[in-house]
Amino acid sequence: MTTLPQSMFATVLLHDGFTGSPTGPYIDDAGDWLAEAELPVPEPGPGQVLIKLRAASVNPSDIHFIKGEYGQPRVKGAAAGFEGCGDVVATGKGAEALQDQRVAFVTGGSGAWAEYVLAPAIMCIPLRPEISDEDGAAQIVNPLTAMAMVDIARASGDAFVLSAATSQLGKLMCSLGRDLGLKPIALVRRPETVEALKELGAAEVLVTTHPNVVQDFSQICKDLKPRVFLDAVVDQLSEQVFCAMPNQARWICYGKLSAEAPTLTQSGQLIFMGKQIEGFWLTNWVTSTPPEVQARVVAEVQARFADGRWKTDISERLSLKALVPNLASALKKSGGKVIITPQ
Ligand SMILES: NC(=O)c1ccc[n+]([C@@H]2O[C@H](COP(=O)([O-])OP(=O)(O)OC[C@H]3O[C@@H](n4cnc5c(N)ncnc54)[C@H](OP(=O)(O)O)[C@@H]3O)[C@@H](O)[C@H]2O)c1
Repeated sequence: MTTLPQSMFATVLLHDGFTGSPTGPYIDDAGDWLAEAELPVPEPGPGQVLIKLRAASVNPSDIHFIKGEYGQPRVKGAAAGFEGCGDVVATGKGAEALQDQRVAFVTGGSGAWAEYVLAPAIMCIPLRPEISDEDGAAQIVNPLTAMAMVDIARASGDAFVLSAATSQLGKLMCSLGRDLGLKPIALVRRPETVEALKELGAAEVLVTTHPNVVQDFSQICKDLKPRVFLDAVVDQLSEQVFCAMPNQARWICYGKLSAEAPTLTQSGQLIFMGKQIEGFWLTNWVTSTPPEVQARVVAEVQARFADGRWKTDISERLSLKALVPNLASALKKSGGKVIITPQ
């Protein structure tokens, strides 16, 4: 039995609750939202485990959350961070089976950006040995979302549209779509990423800053007839893309990378063309999907990481103690995740 320390280093929230005016998952200085603290090492209650952190990921949801613009309220003084990977060092009643296992986890509230993390046992996935700690730290939020959303797209035809396709989630969805025989139509904002996206599996790649992007997209729609638009940006161009899609199209908003609020310009699209605008949130998928389906999806996710069909691109590694001073500049790099390590 490991002897646990009394206290631990953690990166904690500076504010409570929500903010009134969301500005997106961007920060100028992490010190506006986070502070360094020494906290007591928590004790797991029934159904919980205590995890010694190996690696945590920084997702856009973490940044929305620390700023008070995510789907759950902040608790001032609590550790930040939702997702990571580590070793179970103590268990509460009913969670004993996870003792000593290396797991991927999502926290119940927040708390992943600390040396020790509490997580509900049902939000922990024992990791196959082939999976690295860094892939383990990004094993749940984006991969399960990719599986769930591509499944939605597959039910509506051969082609689907995705925005912010250079995001980690976008890349997972392009390659999964290709592997399933689908035709992902990728929207990116940087022209230099087009070839890499095609290699990953995108059937078409459109650059959103190009002046003819909507006309080019309309032409592609005539050929490929995509009926699902998986959108993490949700700006006015998204609305134009939705309007260019064929009847019965669904605009599924699952992120808010743009701070711009789009205006709906053609309500007839909803009335006469049977189109729909909806949202997707993994939290709702987890609570509404039968456990046996989730187990199948989790096994497929791990198989894809274990054999190299999926990987986590990393733009920067930061230790917990280097996080607050360096997070804002690390997030400005394109092309991968910021990964947090305990040391
Ligand atoms: N609803 C859910 O359940 C759920 C679950 C998981 C993720 N998400 C959402 O999925 C999205 C992607 O997450 P991720 O972890 O894969 O992100 P990520 O790897 O951190 O990548 C985000 C990328 O989006 C691109 N981007 C940022 N702002 C943009 C803008 N205004 N317009 C176009 N592209 C922009 C940037 O790519 P370039 O720099 O290459 O242009 C950036 O690297 C986020 O919005 C996240 O909140 C939602």
